[in-house]
Amino acid sequence: MTTEILRQPERYPLSSKYDAAWLLGLDMGPNPLWLLEDLAPDLGLRPGMRVLDLGSGRGATSVFLAKEFGVSVVAADLWVDPAKAAATFAEAGVSGQVEAVRAEAHALPFEASAFDAIVCIDAYEYFGTADTYLAYITRFMKPGGRLGIATPAMRREVRELGEIPPHIKACVGWEATAWHSADWWRFHWAVTELVTVTSARLQAEGWADWLRWTKAGNSPDKRSEERRVGKECRSRWSPYH
Ligand SMILES: C[S@@+](CC[C@H](N)C(=O)[O-])C[C@H]1O[C@@H](n2cnc3c(N)ncnc32)[C@H](O)[C@@H]1O
Repeated sequence: MTTEILRQPERYPLSSKYDAAWLLGLDMGPNPLWLLEDLAPDLGLRPGMRVLDLGSGRGATSVFLAKEFGVSVVAADLWVDPAKAAATFAEAGVSGQVEAVRAEAHALPFEASAFDAIVCIDAYEYFGTADTYLAYITRFMKPGGRLGIATPAMRREVRELGEIPPHIKACVGWEATAWHSADWWRFHWAVTELVTVTSARLQAEGWADWLRWTKAGNSPDKRSEERRVGKECRSRWSPYH
């Protein structure tokens, strides 16, 4: 079965516990649980912490944060109906820990210093590249809080290459101008002195993981109604996946 490739217990032991069909039914982009599991050691999560999952989509990462780390989560997203996300949280048995909120990333309905950590999986590229955004988002973190993002990246900047590489352009068009290298992000944040950058790196085998996800998503035995809706949503909102 093609979805079997989504079980990678050696590399992603926590993600491998989750049902592949469930995860694909919530699809808005390549494996959000792998991205989060890779990022999590940099976040210092502990039970009881309050975490903002910004751009949480259909909610797989919020379920994962609640179940794996015992944190309470605000799942904030613009495009996904919070009632639908809430249904996912209830089904997963985490509705006591996860609250779904409709929110625009530049007008967040939270108090200053509301979160111990802010996590953003495959979403920051849509709203977070402006020079001023870091100052905005960090106001919602408690002192000593952590901000972690996983975002599509190339090894070299589009500006340096002089163009968007054709194979990327074919998938996402101009949107790739918001994809930046790890060094770009490191400098972009560190130079502000608003944060201490502890890590800015490529995910090992990130590209191969992306292809694995795409292959699993095309499995003919998983063409459920949810999956069909997921594909429509992706092509409407997120043409690069
Ligand atoms: C590619 S999807 C990823 C969703 C989810 N994190 C995942 O990995 O499955 C990008 C998400 O970013 C959210 N998003 C895009 N622009 C946003 C904005 N301005 N404010 C809040 N969320 C935004 C969309 O609603 C969408 O759910």
